[in-house]
Amino acid sequence: MSKVKIGVFGGYRGMTMIRQAIDHPDASLVAVCDKYEPLLEQCRSLASEHGVKVELFADFDDFIQCDMDAVVLANYANEHAPYAIRCLESGRHVMSEVLTCATLKEAVELVEAVERSGKVYQYAENYCYFNTTFEMRQRYQRGDIGELMHAEGEYIHDCSSIWPQITYGEREHWRNTMYSTFYCTHSLGPILFASGLRPVSVVGFETRNMPFMRELGTKAGTAGMEIVMLENGAMVKSIHGGLKREPGSINYQMYGSKGSMETDRWEFGNLHVYLEGDRNCVGEHVRYVPEFTIKDAEGAGHGGGDFFTTHYFVRQILGDDDARKNSIDVYQAVDMCMPGILAYRSILNGNAPQVVPNLRLKEERDKYRNDDIRYLVSNEDIPNSVFEMVRQKWIKGEPG
Ligand SMILES: NC(=O)c1ccc[n+]([C@@H]2O[C@H](COP(=O)([O-])OP(=O)(O)OC[C@H]3O[C@@H](n4cnc5c(N)ncnc54)[C@H](O)[C@@H]3O)[C@@H](O)[C@H]2O)c1
Repeated sequence: MSKVKIGVFGGYRGMTMIRQAIDHPDASLVAVCDKYEPLLEQCRSLASEHGVKVELFADFDDFIQCDMDAVVLANYANEHAPYAIRCLESGRHVMSEVLTCATLKEAVELVEAVERSGKVYQYAENYCYFNTTFEMRQRYQRGDIGELMHAEGEYIHDCSSIWPQITYGEREHWRNTMYSTFYCTHSLGPILFASGLRPVSVVGFETRNMPFMRELGTKAGTAGMEIVMLENGAMVKSIHGGLKREPGSINYQMYGSKGSMETDRWEFGNLHVYLEGDRNCVGEHVRYVPEFTIKDAEGAGHGGGDFFTTHYFVRQILGDDDARKNSIDVYQAVDMCMPGILAYRSILNGNAPQVVPNLRLKEERDKYRNDDIRYLVSNEDIPNSVFEMVRQKWIKGEPG
């Protein structure tokens, strides 16, 4: 294969991957699918500016017929797994945006579809590839801080001002019906990726739904939290949602038996490392800005993370072993996502702990094969006028 022929499904967030596929030396963008015509128009203009021929589709069934090796899924966050399975079954490699799956049943089906297909499945959890989080991974794998005892991951993003631009005033948009703990992989993912450890149980918590979000169309708890136990007994706090803090907080901490690492809470890109010496409680603290392992990542979206996901996807398809080792496979993808689903089950059951299955083991799958509970937060009693108001703001480009 000379260049990987890529199709992108979903053209809003997908525009990032569309641009990357156009620019990447080992890839070519061949198709885009989105039912929203203005996005297809943008793609048409972009493709002609770059002298690239791209087929445009409004319907997935037509798109999937197109001649392509790989599909990037940037469609609705709670609809990825069924489309991933269809793409794998049609012989395509898949890179999925966050989240991995919406139910435990989908998690089992996805794992088995990847195994059957023999194709590349890669999870695009771009927060694992900041200069800081990737450095934490390299240091942890080298043993710098010993064995993980506790970690925290935080993705605080108050989306109220951009709500009209990301929900368009649609009552049933996934952002309006998702529950507090669903969107958990930006906070939990980098800890699992860095440590290589598997979650074994989870307890969930959420804040109340706050009026500033209800007035925009959602009744979900405004922030959610998962307290996760890992396979080695380490504990993890993963918190995400719309708390009031500007700029938002993307922050990670890892405490090990020989030291600790944490990203700077206010100066994004800085990492603090404490390494203990031979004596208890005596060691060195350094603060620095880690360099990207690939310089091309500098300036890419989401702190450089957007570069690595697409780059490693393309390189992995071409057989690059380094790309494979640095990518998130389907097992780790479901490990990152299932705690969010199960944390909500925990909330609904008085914060009772929930077992997180190990779907690498075939014998653990049957218990979840028919577990198709799809949690959604109803906003039925929010009047139509709220959604119409949000829709007007979207049309006029006004903040929420
Ligand atoms: N990793 C990140 O940093 C990051 C940032 C933003 C969004 N995302 C993810 O990207 C995905 C898309 O989010 P978004 O912000 O673009 O908003 P969105 O979910 O509203 O956009 C999805 C797009 O896909 C199109 N689409 C969905 N289903 C379709 C179908 N059946 N046929 C044709 N078109 C269809 C929609 O028209 C829309 O343009 C989500 O999974 C979200 O979690 C990730």
